[in-house]
Amino acid sequence: MSPIRTLISEAEIKDRVRQIGAEISKDYNARTPTLVCVLKGSIIFFADLIRVITLDVNCEFAQTSSYNDKTVSSGEAKLVFNSKLNFKNIDVIIIEDIIDTGLSLTSLIAEIQRTTPASLKVCSLLNKPSRRIKPVRIDYLGFEIENHFVVGYGLDHAQKYRNLPYIAILDPNEIR
Ligand code: IMP
Ligand code: MG
Repeated sequence: MSPIRTLISEAEIKDRVRQIGAEISKDYNARTPTLVCVLKGSIIFFADLIRVITLDVNCEFAQTSSYNDKTVSSGEAKLVFNSKLNFKNIDVIIIEDIIDTGLSLTSLIAEIQRTTPASLKVCSLLNKPSRRIKPVRIDYLGFEIENHFVVGYGLDHAQKYRNLPYIAILDPNEIR
């Protein structure tokens, strides 16, 4: 039996990414937002999203980590990489793969706010609200999902499955 089963197909993701790209293009009309790709999980979403946005955009990269190789958040999100990001007077959109406890996003938001951006919004492909510890506002959301551990389309388990073109549920027996 396969350790994974499809939750969101490639076609469904493509459709939704196109809609989000259109929404962002409309909302930021004639502006040049900076999109912050949160490594590593957001790389595929980020790459697809920027190609369906019809504005000029700047791209930045940040890394937060709270998981190590486990599937349950360690409860402590740390910013492990920050390329001296300064967003003074810039319109920023954080691009996340999934919001789970909200801990990593909360610390990233605080880091970015410190540099006084003109505006700051959050875009996430997935939302797992059942596990939230820190409340966060998501301005652009792809899909809300149940409390499953998901992989694919950039999301990993112990660095595996990022290259699946769709989102799949990982069999809980595979997890430990
Ligand atoms: P949070 O700080 O708990 O919100 O964790 C967010 C980060 O944990 C995400 O950006 C992902 O990189 C990772 N993560 C959370 N849930 C999953 C999942 O179901 N599969 C893979 N990675 C996940
Ligand atoms: Mg992430």
